[in-house]
Amino acid sequence: MSGMRPTGRLHLGHYVGVLKNWITLQHQYQSFFSIADWHALTTKYDETQGLNGHILDVALDWLGAGVDPVVATVFVQSQVPEVAELHLLLSMLTPKKWVETDPTLKDMVQMLHEDLNYGLLGYPILQTADILSVKAHLVPVGKDQLAHLEISRDIVTRFNHLYQVELFPAPQPLLTETPMLPGVDGRKMGKSYGNAIYLSDTEEETWQKIKQGITDPARIKRTDPGNPLECEVIYKYYEVFAPSDVQALAAEECRTAARGCMDCKRILADVINAQLRPMRERRQALAEDLGQVRQILKDGSEKAREECRQTLQEVRSAMKLFSLD
Ligand code: TRP
Ligand code: SF4
Repeated sequence: MSGMRPTGRLHLGHYVGVLKNWITLQHQYQSFFSIADWHALTTKYDETQGLNGHILDVALDWLGAGVDPVVATVFVQSQVPEVAELHLLLSMLTPKKWVETDPTLKDMVQMLHEDLNYGLLGYPILQTADILSVKAHLVPVGKDQLAHLEISRDIVTRFNHLYQVELFPAPQPLLTETPMLPGVDGRKMGKSYGNAIYLSDTEEETWQKIKQGITDPARIKRTDPGNPLECEVIYKYYEVFAPSDVQALAAEECRTAARGCMDCKRILADVINAQLRPMRERRQALAEDLGQVRQILKDGSEKAREECRQTLQEVRSAMKLFSLD
């Protein structure tokens, strides 16, 4: 089980860091992928208007990239209200200290320009509800999410111990070595820096961005030999996207000044565009048929709901909560 907050279109950093991994894992495990729109509200509660578009954009990016709704359950968090009930119940047995000392949450709070909302404090508990609602064993996430996941495991231990049940497995992180991809200017790839190449960019936009990419700063004239290891963006992209022979040739021709940086970028843009072409075509086709995308999300949300309803029933009964039946 994993999720992403819908904050906008996805870029190559998301693709190589997260999505590519999910696309492999979906064939190895029964998988649930949540578009965590409530989590987005914890910091952007005043931007609900844009959220609807972001949700569809994320769905298009996932499906275009190859998340397959036939094998994986793709759903929207807010369409599974049972997650909110589970969040509420779990919040009752979570000591305030646990969330207050979560370093990832501390970072989020520090970046806030306003007072801390009660909802943001519950971020890791809501995430725990996502995970436990489908009783997930494995959670493929990045390092920044490990602290949240530790809280999830602590909540599981506490729940199982308090109510003397073995209801939830302790969710383990699934850390996969994924490359960190810098933006074309060498800084962290992100929307705010304008240095990101998007899955949904056109081939021309991709080329225009790669053209601006930074290269070996010591290579000034076309005749200067270069050092690929000092070329932190363009050569890094070769390492991530190009087949090994194409990559080796780039390194060789860079060192001997047999190719100029512009040619080198042109070849790279062709490599990346060729790789993204089938994804972009699939995305485009779906973007022209949003009815189908909505249906996929609807079916996925219904499937996730069924799991979650079942889990909640077990939770209510383990906690001996009041029932009229
Ligand atoms: N907090 C995660 C992130 O920012 C997104 C997320 C929401 C998530 N719910 C989840 C990740 C459940 C794993 C499992 O990346
Ligand atoms: Fe980088 Fe290619 Fe220029 Fe060498 S030739 S510095 S690898 S862009």
